Amino acid sequence: MGFSQLLFFYLVLCSMATTLLAHETDDRLALLGFKNGVTSDPSGALDSWNDTVYFCNWTGITCSHKHKGRVTAINLSMLGLGGFISPSIANLSFLNSIELSLNKFSSEIPQEIGHLQWLRYLNLSFNALHGIIPVSLANCSQLRFLHLSSNQLNGSIPVALGGTLDKLKVLALSKNSLTGVIPSSIGNLSSLVQLSLMSNNLQGIISEELGRLSNLVRFQVGDNSLHGTIPSVLFNISSIDFISVAVNQLHGRLPSTLGTKLFKNSQCFYIGGNMFSGTVPASLSNASLLEIDISLNQFSGTVPPIFLEGCMAFIISIYKNNQFKSQRCQGLELH
Ligand SMILES: *[C@@H]1O[C@H](CO)[C@@H](O)[C@H](O)[C@H]1NC(C)=O
Ligand SMILES: *[C@@H]1O[C@H](CO)[C@@H](O)[C@H](O)[C@H]1NC(C)=O
Ligand SMILES: *[C@@H]1O[C@H](CO)[C@@H](O)[C@H](O)[C@H]1NC(C)=O
Ligand SMILES: *[C@@H]1O[C@H](CO)[C@@H](O)[C@H](O)[C@H]1NC(C)=O
Ligand SMILES: *[C@@H]1O[C@H](CO)[C@@H](O)[C@H](O)[C@H]1NC(C)=O
Ligand SMILES: *[C@@H]1O[C@H](CO)[C@@H](O)[C@H](O)[C@H]1NC(C)=O
Ligand SMILES: *[C@@H]1O[C@H](CO)[C@@H](O)[C@H](O)[C@H]1NC(C)=O
Ligand SMILES: *[C@@H]1O[C@H](CO)[C@@H](O)[C@H](O)[C@H]1NC(C)=O
Ligand SMILES: *[C@@H]1O[C@H](CO)[C@@H](O)[C@H](O)[C@H]1NC(C)=O
Ligand SMILES: *[C@@H]1O[C@H](CO)[C@@H](O)[C@H](O)[C@H]1NC(C)=O
Repeated sequence: MGFSQLLFFYLVLCSMATTLLAHETDDRLALLGFKNGVTSDPSGALDSWNDTVYFCNWTGITCSHKHKGRVTAINLSMLGLGGFISPSIANLSFLNSIELSLNKFSSEIPQEIGHLQWLRYLNLSFNALHGIIPVSLANCSQLRFLHLSSNQLNGSIPVALGGTLDKLKVLALSKNSLTGVIPSSIGNLSSLVQLSLMSNNLQGIISEELGRLSNLVRFQVGDNSLHGTIPSVLFNISSIDFISVAVNQLHGRLPSTLGTKLFKNSQCFYIGGNMFSGTVPASLSNASLLEIDISLNQFSGTVPPIFLEGCMAFIISIYKNNQFKSQRCQGLELH
C-alpha cells in the first residue's frame, strides 16, 4: 500500500469514527436540551441524566441495538414532570416512540416534531399543552398512534393529517378545545381503528367520507356541536363496536339493521342528548350491548323487548324525554 492509499484509508476510518461519535454527541446534547425544558421533576426521575451515567442508560431512554448511541424511545410517563417540551427532542432523528403522558407539560407541541420521520408512537395525553396541533405532524408518515387527549389544544384538526398518515391506527384528540369541522380527509386514514374527538368544540357535520374507515372499531365524537345526521355508510362499517355521539345536535332515524350489522363484540352505543327520532330498531336486541344510552332524544313507538326483559341486562337509559308507549322499566333507569 502506497503512502497516499494509506493516508486515504486513514482519513476514511477517521471520518467514520467521528461521524459515529458526532451522532452520539448529538443525541446526548438533544436529550440535555430536552432536560433543560423540564422545570419540575418531583420524583427526581431525571437525576440519572448526568455525566457519570452513559446517556443510553438514563431513566426512560432506550437506544438502538443496531446503531450505537442512537435514541429510539423516550418513556417518561406519569412522573409529574412539568415545564416545556423542548424542540431539541426533534434532533433525535432515530426516535420512534415518545411517551410523555400523564405529566404536567404546559408548552406548545414543538412544530419541529415533524422532522421525526421514524416516529410511530406519540403520546402526550393528560398534560396541559396549549396552542395548535402542528401541521408538521403530517410529515411523520410512520405514525401509528397519535394520542393528544386531555390537554388544552385549540385551533382546528389539520386537514393535512388525512393526506399522509395512512398507517395511523389511533387518533385520539378528546378533551381539548379544538374548533372547526372534522376534516373529511380523515376518511383517508384507512388503517384507523380508533377515532376519539370527544369533548371539544367541533362543529359541522359528520362527513360521508368517514364511511371509508373500514377498520374502525371505536367512533367517539360525543360532547361537541355537530349537526346533521349520522351518515348511513358509517352504520355499514361492520368492525364498529363502540359509537358515542352523545350530546350534539344530531337528528335522523336509526337504520333497522343496526343491531345485526354492528356491535359484534358487544360494546357501547351512546347517542343520548340529540334529536334522533323514529323507533328504536328491534335488531338492537340481538347486539348484546354492554351499555346503551338513547335518552334525551325524540324516539317514539314501542320499546324493544330486550329492554323490558328483566330490565337490567346492562345499563339502560332509554326513557328520559322519549315518548314510548310503555314505561315499564322507568324506575330502574340508572342515568
Ligand atoms: C448520576 O446518577 C446516578 C444514578 O441515578 C447517581 O447514582 C449518581 O449519584 C449521579 N451522579 C451525580 C454526579 O449526580
Ligand atoms: C448500561 O447499563 C447496563 C445494564 O444496567 C450495563 O451493563 C452497561 O454497562 C451500562 N452501559 C454503560 C456504557 O455504562
Ligand atoms: C412506558 O413505561 C411504562 C412503565 O414501565 C410501560 O407500562 C409502558 O408500556 C411504556 N410505554 C411505552 C410506549 O413504551
Ligand atoms: C439541533 O441540531 C442542530 C445541528 O445538528 C443544531 O444546530 C440545533 O441547535 C439543534 N436544535 C436544538 C433545538 O437543539
Ligand atoms: C416536512 O417534510 C418536507 C419534505 O420531506 C420537508 O421539506 C419539511 O421541512 C418537513 N417539515 C417539517 C416541519 O419537518
Ligand atoms: C396514552 O397514554 C394514556 C395515559 O397513560 C393511555 O391511557 C393511553 O392508552 C395511551 N395511548 C396509547 C395509544 O397507547
Ligand atoms: C389558542 O389559544 C391561545 C391562548 O392560549 C390564543 O392566543 C390563540 O389565539 C388561540 N388560537 C386559536 C386558533 O384559537
Ligand atoms: C383525502 O381525502 C380528501 C377528502 O375526502 C380528498 O379530496 C383527497 O384527495 C384525499 N387525499 C389523499 C392523499 O388521499
Ligand atoms: C351498506 O352495505 C350494503 C351491503 O353491503 C349495501 O347494499 C348498501 O348500499 C350500503 N349502504 C351504504 C349507505 O353504503
Ligand atoms: C336476531 O337474530 C336472529 C337469529 O340470528 C334472527 O332470526 C332475528 O330476526 C334477529 N332479531 C332481530 C330483531 O333482528
